[in-house]
Amino acid sequence: MNPKVSIRHLLKSDAELLAKYINNKKIWDNLRDYIPHPYSLEDAQNHIDSTQVKDPKTDFAILFENEFAGLVGFNMQTDVYRHSAEIGYWLGEPFWGKGITSSAVKLVVDHAFNVTEVKRLYTSVFDFNKASCKVLEKVGFIAEGVGKKSVIKNGVYLDEIRYGLLNPKFFPST
Ligand SMILES: CC(C)(COP(=O)(O)OP(=O)(O)OC[C@H]1O[C@@H](n2cnc3c(N)ncnc32)[C@H](O)[C@@H]1OP(=O)(O)O)[C@@H](O)C(=O)NCCC(=O)NCCS
Repeated sequence: MNPKVSIRHLLKSDAELLAKYINNKKIWDNLRDYIPHPYSLEDAQNHIDSTQVKDPKTDFAILFENEFAGLVGFNMQTDVYRHSAEIGYWLGEPFWGKGITSSAVKLVVDHAFNVTEVKRLYTSVFDFNKASCKVLEKVGFIAEGVGKKSVIKNGVYLDEIRYGLLNPKFFPST
């Protein structure tokens, strides 16, 4: 793990760098369409505001050498999935390739499993996103299956790989 990486909850003052880094089609091409593109400063401010009313707070800034570099967080699910949470992340392009996201995801996994009630984390990755698959595998996530042509992004049907990780405190033998 990269010792220069840390996480903390989002601050209003993160808005400018958040908007600057996410405003990148190379990032947006790997994310869901509800995230605006282009992404305005107001979008960033609204997003930060929305994270601050959550209980528990599950959204974090990724910091590299104490500088804002990206986002990582998880969303608690509902109904029969209420002990599962979906994890998501992106990192500003200037910071790619330094092991930063793998370290940040590990920190968030530890937080989710030790500080909150989460029993299982999962996410889905567009199949061409090898860097994201690698991040998850480095942290211990297991590929659970493929949703064939389950995604339409930029007008193209894509396969999606589902990854999951169980909380070892609750499922020690799996
Ligand atoms: C995916 C993303 C978060 C990775 O961030 P990062 O900090 O560069 O990732 P890391 O450096 O921790 O690890 C990336 C790993 O993937 C590997 N990798 C990168 N590109 C790769 C490729 N095309 N094929 C195979 N492996 C690749 C790297 O070598 C590294 O592995 P290593 O540490 O064993 O060398 C970043 O590229 C990003 O924000 N992408 C756009 C948004 C996104 O994809 N979010 C996730 C949606 S599921």
